[in-house]
Amino acid sequence: MVTIEIPTPDDWHLHLRDDEMLKAVVGASAQTYRYAMVMPNLRPPLTNTTDAVAYRQRILDAAAAVDGGAFKPLITLFASADIDLDDLRAGFAAGDVAAVKFYPAGATTNSDQAAGGLAEFNSLFEAMADMGMRLLVHAESTDPEVDVYDREAVFLERHVVPMLERLPGLSVTIEHVSTAAGVDLVMGHDQLAATITPHHLAKDRGDLLASGLKPDLYCKPIINSPTDRRRLVEVATAGDSSFCMGTDSAPHPTTAKYGPSAAAGVFNAAYGLEAVAEVFFHAGQIDNLAKFVSHNGVGIYGVEPPVGRLRLTRSEAEASAPPDRLVTESGDEVVHFGVDAAALWTVEVL
Ligand code: NCD
Ligand code: ZN
Repeated sequence: MVTIEIPTPDDWHLHLRDDEMLKAVVGASAQTYRYAMVMPNLRPPLTNTTDAVAYRQRILDAAAAVDGGAFKPLITLFASADIDLDDLRAGFAAGDVAAVKFYPAGATTNSDQAAGGLAEFNSLFEAMADMGMRLLVHAESTDPEVDVYDREAVFLERHVVPMLERLPGLSVTIEHVSTAAGVDLVMGHDQLAATITPHHLAKDRGDLLASGLKPDLYCKPIINSPTDRRRLVEVATAGDSSFCMGTDSAPHPTTAKYGPSAAAGVFNAAYGLEAVAEVFFHAGQIDNLAKFVSHNGVGIYGVEPPVGRLRLTRSEAEASAPPDRLVTESGDEVVHFGVDAAALWTVEVL
């Protein structure tokens, strides 16, 4: 049996959706995590402070209803021509808007309204650099000539590197970094940090494709090669301070997942922490888990350190499978990621 205690973790990349789905999924995050960087790809996307404040209130209400009252959602805006700089400045100063998220058009769920490249938003990003506001980037080329496994590396080279040169004062998070090329870029630039997801740490594209296509592992950026996964595991388990956990938990009902075309997104809010603990355990680095899930993000985002604690216990003897899906009020099912790890690990809030 293995037991460790860690400060309350934060989730630096989370999709909570809205309405009925929000009510169904928020507890999984709110009962375990402290801060969550909440993504703005609603329909329509969040592009102003008024909508951000209203959304945060809906999240807080939904969390309070399921015993997650200590949860601190941080709201992001969707990089778009609709963002007004005065509104952004006021929202950031008031603590109502935490960051801006850039999506390449068409790269992922609800991103069809986004832009092609980062250069289109140079004046927005310049203003953010002046304010000290972080830019969060979904780094994926949507050039149809680029192979799906190369999309992250190509976007970083074509769009992110030139932007870093244009705007040396801008702090940037590469979201859900999924390749060795992404890790290397982050390690080479002080301006950069990155989130890493539980599923990119725990799985490679063989798990997605090699023995029966797994729609539940289909996400953007696509889960990549074993070599890429090893590099992600290496930097995460080393506790490198430029990398923190962002689950990218992105719930889709089975009706959108199973069929001729699967929606992109892995739902790991409930068992992602256990899945990450299992990766650290197998790497022989469980003592570095707190750096990755609790400490590094505090440094990157400049928030106060957590005061709460969690106890994680791993026991093969007591293994029993937890529920493999949740059901929304109207009967939609959302399949959990990390059930196997959750059967081994128990998480207690202290
Ligand atoms: C996310 C979603 O469903 O909102 N999907 C995903 O595969 N990660 C969007 C995103 O973060 O790209
Ligand atoms: Zn995401």
